[in-house]
Amino acid sequence: MSDIKESLNSIREEFDKALEQVKDSQAAEQLRVSFLGKKGQLTQVLKGMGGLTAEERPVIGKIANDVRSHMESRLEEIVAKIKEEEKGHKLRREVIDVTIPSDRKGAGSRHPLNMAINEICDIFLGLGYSIAEGPEVEYDKYNFELLRIPEGHPARDTQDTFYFNDKVLLRTQTSGMQIRVMEQQKPPLKVICPGKVYRSDALDATHSPVFHQIEGLVVDKGVTMGDLVGSLRLFAKKLFGENTEIRLRPHHFPFTEPSVEVDLTCWKCGGKGCNVCKGEGWIEVLGAGMVHPEVLQNCGIDPEVYSGFAFGIGVERTAMGRYGIDDIRLLYENDVRFLEQFK
Ligand code: PHE
Repeated sequence: MSDIKESLNSIREEFDKALEQVKDSQAAEQLRVSFLGKKGQLTQVLKGMGGLTAEERPVIGKIANDVRSHMESRLEEIVAKIKEEEKGHKLRREVIDVTIPSDRKGAGSRHPLNMAINEICDIFLGLGYSIAEGPEVEYDKYNFELLRIPEGHPARDTQDTFYFNDKVLLRTQTSGMQIRVMEQQKPPLKVICPGKVYRSDALDATHSPVFHQIEGLVVDKGVTMGDLVGSLRLFAKKLFGENTEIRLRPHHFPFTEPSVEVDLTCWKCGGKGCNVCKGEGWIEVLGAGMVHPEVLQNCGIDPEVYSGFAFGIGVERTAMGRYGIDDIRLLYENDVRFLEQFK
């Protein structure tokens, strides 16, 4: 009996010593298995109780139970303590210092094309126009047919484009919006329609298969070419400065009559002639004209009563002039070094 008693005491001592070395929950579990497990030291010792007398058994049993509950409660304590510590470590490790400066990039900036569109739209909003927007996937009817460009018309070739089927295409011009607006609203009308247009042009320094136009349309009683010229002069001066003049050259668009191409005084040299205007002193920026009477009629507006003018501004060209950009491709490459310059 005293053997067993001694063994139990030394188990307890050994356990206490081993416990001091326990630093994490894994070690605590190992300790539990080796002392209290099925094959643990305590179980081994208790197996020897078979040789005890009936009087000895309860005495040893009590000591064994004491040792067991001692070990269990010490283990429980240490596990709780370890868990607390581990939680503390985790919290400290994952702490978020809200005072550290962020490494996030600063706020972005408007794209120069959007800046140009906004500037141009602002000028016309100030003149009492409203903004209309239309679909980029457009019916042939709106993009060509009702604008007096029937099937087989040579103007279709110059705007060779992307078709979904015989009747649906990516719009080649914003002029289709003239029709959409006139079909839906009755004069007096004063709208601008900014948007993307598509042509199967190869990409180079001055051409892109996707570009932007801003279409303008005014329809009312007694609208004349003089009104068109006055509006465009005002637009040119507001955008490029008071000294800017416009020059009209006769042209042909199927949906306007008469039609003109409109040049502005070169924004670089002011008209003297330079590399930007190729020595001309002028830069072509838009097409315009008086809405063809048949186009008005196509939309149910009586050309005997109403007249109107329309114009289409090339946004890329205007933006390039306004901000001194010499290659159209820069506008589409999304190179941050380029875009950052417009902050
Ligand atoms: N839609 C014409 C083009 O893309 C421009 C234009 C618009 C001409 C409105 C006259 C009136 O070239």
